[in-house]
Amino acid sequence: MSRPVAVITGASRGIGKQLCIDLAREGYDIVAIARSTADSPTKLPGTVDETVALAKEAGGATCTAWAIGLDVRDEEGIEALAGRVKSELGRCDLVVNNAAIAPPGATLGSPMRRWRLAIDINVNGPLYFMNSFVPLMTPGEGRVLNISSSASVAPAFGRASYTTTKRALEALTECIGWELREKVAVNCIRLELSVWSEGYTSTLPDMDFSDFEDPVIMSDATLWLARQPIAYTGHVLTIAQMRAMGAVRAVTRIGDRVA
Ligand SMILES: NC(=O)c1ccc[n+]([C@@H]2O[C@H](COP(=O)([O-])OP(=O)(O)OC[C@H]3O[C@@H](n4cnc5c(N)ncnc54)[C@H](OP(=O)(O)O)[C@@H]3O)[C@@H](O)[C@H]2O)c1
Repeated sequence: MSRPVAVITGASRGIGKQLCIDLAREGYDIVAIARSTADSPTKLPGTVDETVALAKEAGGATCTAWAIGLDVRDEEGIEALAGRVKSELGRCDLVVNNAAIAPPGATLGSPMRRWRLAIDINVNGPLYFMNSFVPLMTPGEGRVLNISSSASVAPAFGRASYTTTKRALEALTECIGWELREKVAVNCIRLELSVWSEGYTSTLPDMDFSDFEDPVIMSDATLWLARQPIAYTGHVLTIAQMRAMGAVRAVTRIGDRVA
């Protein structure tokens, strides 16, 4: 029996990187997707190649992990990747739509391409992944997880496109969850805590991050949702709600992490 396959976007750093490592450890093969690759790194630390090396280490000798340099706006590239996953890995069990941006600054008077960029990455990207990868899932067994933020309900003033797109992603979760009921479970985490990540912390210079939560809590939440019955779908859950259900470990501090 082949290992289940998890497709994770935003996997070059932060939460997506942690998900790849922990899902590999839990027995998944990994398709790690982001724009930063060994051949084409960006300003921030992390590439999908580095993530895949760590995932393979965590997953052991039988773990397959692919490093895919791909922009989540590239609908045709996503469809081509789904074709490759189907022919070479033969299955897809879990998609985590984690990649996102949060452009700062006023909305009105700014170039509209910045607005479109957020919509393309934070909403259209997850839709393209669901559209291309759900057909690879065995009915009754597939799972999709979309990563939102409490900015969806508590407006991040000065980041209107982030709030708007995260609210849209939650609505999309509920609607596609209904469309796919009994076939694929589609759920969403509305992350309401500060979780340590290279991307997030780079926006907060000179801050003490030791009280930020460890990204492993997102792995707990993902693995718990992946194990729920297929009828558990269309939910938007905070970490506090998931902690209350015993799905996520007790409060963590990145400052306590042992390397
Ligand atoms: N950290 C928090 O406290 C927090 C709180 C609330 C919600 N969230 C949500 O959690 C998720 C992960 O956050 P994070 O803090 O781990 O973020 P991060 O460190 O900034 O990482 C973002 C990831 O998204 C990828 N990405 C961005 N644009 C992309 C594109 N066009 N195509 C492909 N990949 C793209 C980045 O890779 P490349 O640059 O290499 O493409 C990177 O791997 C996001 O959805 C975020 O909204 C985080």
